[in-house]
Amino acid sequence: MGNPLDYLDSELNELRERGLFRWPRMLEGAQEPLAHYDGHEVINLASNNYLGLANHTRLKAAARRAIDELGVGSGAVRTIAGNMAIHRELEDELARFKHTEATLLYQSGFTANAGTVAALLGKEDIIVSDELNHASIIDGARLSGAGKKIYPHKDVAAARALLAESHSARRLLLITDGVFSMDGDIAPLPDLVAVAEEFGAIMMVDDAHASGVLGQAGRGTVDHFDLHGRVHVQVGTLSKAFAGQGGYVAGSRSLVDYLIHRARPLLFSTSHPPSVAASALAAVRLVQEEPELIERLWDNTRFFRKGLMQLGWNTGASETPITPVMVGDERLTMDLSDRLFTAGVFALGIAFPTVPRGKARIRTIVTAGHTRTHLQRALDAFERIGREMKLI
Ligand SMILES: Cc1ncc(COP(=O)(O)O)c(C=O)c1O
Repeated sequence: MGNPLDYLDSELNELRERGLFRWPRMLEGAQEPLAHYDGHEVINLASNNYLGLANHTRLKAAARRAIDELGVGSGAVRTIAGNMAIHRELEDELARFKHTEATLLYQSGFTANAGTVAALLGKEDIIVSDELNHASIIDGARLSGAGKKIYPHKDVAAARALLAESHSARRLLLITDGVFSMDGDIAPLPDLVAVAEEFGAIMMVDDAHASGVLGQAGRGTVDHFDLHGRVHVQVGTLSKAFAGQGGYVAGSRSLVDYLIHRARPLLFSTSHPPSVAASALAAVRLVQEEPELIERLWDNTRFFRKGLMQLGWNTGASETPITPVMVGDERLTMDLSDRLFTAGVFALGIAFPTVPRGKARIRTIVTAGHTRTHLQRALDAFERIGREMKLI
């Protein structure tokens, strides 16, 4: 009898043959715009550390204080004995920030999406979802047992048609990413909200990449489009612009009370260590006090995207700091990423299954912490290597 796990090696070999076997690069030291990975100093265009807060003095001091005063762990699931005052303080701050009645913390943005969708819907219901929505939404939909109807990316007319044909369902959920994580484009939220209202559907948005990036002080897409009170469920993350770990749901008091009783990540997984909640709280306060952080992020975004476009790169449909450099071929994309790395620029190659086949790309994200010198050096590398590879 052979080893029942032999199929793993054959699948891994297939990845190797296609040039897609990857092992994550190792960050040596802190998450910074100029960082050390795998023994190289590189301009870091690969993180989601949008506001450059991952190594910020004030956030670190808040975490340290929480460790000194409250220890390193919550000791239990939130609903058993792990519900700490610092969790509630963060939720209250987030509710004020989002202009909603209440918020509820999750251990990650992933569990916030998956846990919430699975808790709100059941097999008598229908979920209408953008084809490029995040994996955590897809997994939540699977876990819920609800019927799934997928509309072409950002196609509101198609979403409307799917809602219209689903009238016999007990409940309808229309769900979209606010900012799409691999393309950097923004959901047509005002039109989606209008069709959700037309059919009485629950409207949910995943603002993982809009949190700290879009809207006043980074409140997200609902604020960006002035849709306060019209999106029932907003998910945000604390692990990207807010530089720590965690996710949250923002909405009505009833939504939050219901999820505390039904969302399985809440019920069956230990809550945040107090230091994680404390640094997130410091981050949410900091972005409200220092609007120049977000201004710098957007200045850098405009400078870098314009530079790429002037060089002749195709930056897709991006409208946010996520700027893809579209290549298409998977091998060429990985080759370009490797050559950029050798030249001192860390920009990740992304291929199937993270993006559709034939749409491989380099994904770049600038942060508020990058200087113009960093960004110009990165553009120079994109120019030189792009020409060598005859891609521009
Ligand atoms: C669109 C989107 N939603 C949700 C998540 C999950 O967030 P987190 O990393 O906090 O689990 C991510 C991040 O990977 C994301 O890109």
